[in-house]
Amino acid sequence: MPQDTVTITDNRTGQNYTLPVENGTIRAMDLRKIKTGPNDFGLMTYDPAFMNTASCRSAITFIDGDKGILRYRGYPIEVLAEHCTFLEVAYLLLFGELPTEPQLKDWISEITHHTMIHESTKKFMEGFRYNAHPMAMFVSTVAALSSVYPESRNVHDPAIRLHQIKRLIGKVPSIAAMSYRHSVGFPYVYPDNDLTYAENFMNMLWKMVEPKYAANPVIARALDILFILHADHEQNCSANAMRAVGSSQADPYLSTAAAAAALSGPLHGGANEEVLRMLDEIGSKDNVPAYIKGIKEGKGKLMGFGHRIYKNYDPRAKIIKWTADRVFEITGRNAKLEIALELERIALQDDYFVQRKLYPNVDFYSGIIYQAMGFRPEMFTVLFAIPRTVGWLAQWQEMITDPEQKIARPRQVWIGHETREFVPMEKRTPAPVAAR
Ligand code: SDX
Repeated sequence: MPQDTVTITDNRTGQNYTLPVENGTIRAMDLRKIKTGPNDFGLMTYDPAFMNTASCRSAITFIDGDKGILRYRGYPIEVLAEHCTFLEVAYLLLFGELPTEPQLKDWISEITHHTMIHESTKKFMEGFRYNAHPMAMFVSTVAALSSVYPESRNVHDPAIRLHQIKRLIGKVPSIAAMSYRHSVGFPYVYPDNDLTYAENFMNMLWKMVEPKYAANPVIARALDILFILHADHEQNCSANAMRAVGSSQADPYLSTAAAAAALSGPLHGGANEEVLRMLDEIGSKDNVPAYIKGIKEGKGKLMGFGHRIYKNYDPRAKIIKWTADRVFEITGRNAKLEIALELERIALQDDYFVQRKLYPNVDFYSGIIYQAMGFRPEMFTVLFAIPRTVGWLAQWQEMITDPEQKIARPRQVWIGHETREFVPMEKRTPAPVAAR
């Protein structure tokens, strides 16, 4: 019997089936041969939320949740955060190798020259109410770029694909900054090609009437590190959305908008905004024990804690805590940090969290830094979406070029009615409709 196989006995028929095991998986389609008779459809797997289902083979990001390991293309996140810039890491994620100096220089120039946005976008942005959530503006405006670059739907043309990838990486900070400026009623600031990616983002956010924006280098480097940490995270909810929407050959602008929409949820990238709301609600260190008691009684979740994959400390959270200290040396310590540190201290000792392996994740400390930098909580998820656009595009490109991939279309387990006789209007009686 070959070693890399499993043998399944179908006790319904007494039949044995030997299935190959590859990369620790069996192919779901191999289960279809397990039937009770010629008219049986065959076995499927039932896996709500894909708790135990690999949807693709990938070489981009590796996570070992038990050991708290995160690597981009084989490089540990700690090393990349210490030695690289965000655009250098973006190149690595997209092309698989760290760039040489000339390659990086060309790459930075390409991205820098795609930061301008079609002027029609300003009119589009003006259509939003002053208090529109920046994520709603971000998602809509990224989708609107699809109308500016119709050639982008040629997703199987490598040159057209790469051109859109550069456009999106260059333009997402500009869109993010426009959504912020719109929300505070300030005029938009055009990109400054003399500045780095992070410095230019700060310029478009915060330049007022000075002739040239001068970015604080500590804040700029902190943003660059935060962008590196948020760039990709294998098959998370929004990456899954990018792959699923992209699998229908929708263009990369519409696919990225769908991914950003998935990120906006409070269980995913929207958690960083919810963490700040939670810390505001707690109010002081003294209230932390009572708040944790409420969580343990089922009154909500500890936002910024827990992870589907990490059953250990999220390695990004450690680096964010280190980065926070650098930022606070410039901005002054955010008082909310004391509450967050007390929450972490108590939660990490409490059986409820220890048994469920709930540790701080990337969102637990990031909001505290962003607030210290001057961002309002509504902007936090936009700050996540900017760098994650690189990860979404790397995942999209890998899916498009994977010969095994086709349009994503899961099956279902039918639990509804069998065929029913039609009921004419006059014979219908009000049926109790349960709230869904
Ligand atoms: C991100 O997937 C990624 O990689 C995402 C991300 C990325 O970079 O793309 O890392 C970014 O989204 C980080 C996660 C941000 N979200 C939050 O911080 C929201 C709070 N966290 C939870 O909602 C939750 O931990 C999830 C959504 C992150 C993970 O949920 P799972 O894996 O579906 O786990 P679960 O909900 O089934 O929880 C298992 C148990 C449950 O208790 P029991 O039913 O067993 O009694 O743990 C409990 C949950 O109630 N639990 C929590 C909790 N998270 C899980 N209890 C209190 N507080 C929490 N935060």
